[in-house]
Amino acid sequence: MSATLIRGGTVVTAEGEFRSDVLCVGETIAAVGPNLEIPAGAKVLDAGGAYVLPGGIDPHTHMELPFMGTVASEDFFSGTSAAAAGGTTTCIDFVIPAPQESILDAYHKWRGWAEKAACDYSLHVAITWWDDSVRQDMVTLAEEHGVNSFKHFMAYKNAIMCDDETLVNSFKTARDLGALCTIHAENGELVYVLQKEIFEKGITGPEGHPLSRPPEVEGEAANRAIRIAEVLGVPVYLVHTSCIDALEAVTRARLEGQQVFAEVLAQHLVIDDSVYRNTDWDAASHYVMSPPFRSKEHQAALWKGLQAGMIQTTATDHCCFCTPQKRAGIDDFRLIPNGTGGVEDRMSVLWHHGVRTGKLSPSQFVAATSSNCAKIFNIFPKKGAIMPGADADIVIWDPDATRTISVKTHHQNIDFNIYEGMEVTGNAATTLSRGMVVWENGELKTVRGRGQYINRPCNAPYWAAQNRRNALAEPTAVDRS
Ligand code: URP
Ligand code: ZN
Ligand code: ZN
Repeated sequence: MSATLIRGGTVVTAEGEFRSDVLCVGETIAAVGPNLEIPAGAKVLDAGGAYVLPGGIDPHTHMELPFMGTVASEDFFSGTSAAAAGGTTTCIDFVIPAPQESILDAYHKWRGWAEKAACDYSLHVAITWWDDSVRQDMVTLAEEHGVNSFKHFMAYKNAIMCDDETLVNSFKTARDLGALCTIHAENGELVYVLQKEIFEKGITGPEGHPLSRPPEVEGEAANRAIRIAEVLGVPVYLVHTSCIDALEAVTRARLEGQQVFAEVLAQHLVIDDSVYRNTDWDAASHYVMSPPFRSKEHQAALWKGLQAGMIQTTATDHCCFCTPQKRAGIDDFRLIPNGTGGVEDRMSVLWHHGVRTGKLSPSQFVAATSSNCAKIFNIFPKKGAIMPGADADIVIWDPDATRTISVKTHHQNIDFNIYEGMEVTGNAATTLSRGMVVWENGELKTVRGRGQYINRPCNAPYWAAQNRRNALAEPTAVDRS
């Protein structure tokens, strides 16, 4: 079996930092400790002056997603390769069945697409409609296919939006399975009405997008989903939390002891809504995603939420549409495919703007880029950890390496980069995926199809308390005999 010794680095975990070597044998970590012996024939990687981190986990990507009349340009191979170049070694993508499509068939379709992935991946499954077959298929997915998270889009009316009836039915089923409910929180009815009003006022360009999706729209949906989850006794996870309104709903619930988790996108932390006022239509359209970019006061609150632990994970919602695809909405902002990229840049952006500014410690960075995600989605310590037995998904992180983010040098399959021109210090020098070097000296070495599907069992120790609490609170009838 091949062996790799990573020598002389500072290992960072969510718990702390220590000088240590890391020995990988085959696909797993065999030993962590000082001055480890070099096994015969082992490859030695010098990590002197660098950090040694668990490979990043991006819990929110959309490779080759069919959406809004087109298909996302990044496929599972190009996307997971670009991820590796930035230090991310696992992506959790989404199966999004069309309404009335069997969710099990959709799952198998996505599994087929994902076979080309270069690094490991898993799949959340969206519940976009309801009948008893959907309930049955949720059981099959949870019990036989390692799916422990079901996604609910509260927006995208007349497409994949989940109404309250579906939400309640799905939440109940997830609770009984010991699964987690994830939420895209925006009130889709309000968005629909506001889009129409704004368009009829003659605002047809990308600036109409944020006007039709104000923070209140997200706050209302976040609060509704959280309250429904509270009544039914199921843990929830808000994806792409972008504003104070949603963060307040999360904070309130967490302070009441509810199992509520929140994710923030790297781009929502560092890009504000001024991008929509760019007079160049193409440039403004590149930032059309939902929820939209917000004003700086929301960004500041999101950073504080991350620092305080109210937000546990960071993601990218990597969903790439190239400029010609965005132009489908040239006369009507409602038709611009929603989505932005960034799977390659998340770790650098967070290090530069989070760790280097003193907002996050290296350990908090590891928690927010991998370990918390692994715990919430129940793949810890296989992923998100540097310890014997864990998968050898490791990044040798150079905290002093500087690069300027650009479409000219990125590895993502998209013709622009939302961070274009941003200088970041802190970069993946070497990335290992299950023991294999996939990124080294600025060169990608990924292999198409080497990525493996990761099963995620239900009842994660991290949140199963919610289900237990619910069982303890079984209602009883009054005895009137
Ligand atoms: O605009 C976005 N976020 N597109 C991808 C689908 C979603 O809402 O996550
Ligand atoms: Zn979404
Ligand atoms: Zn998404």
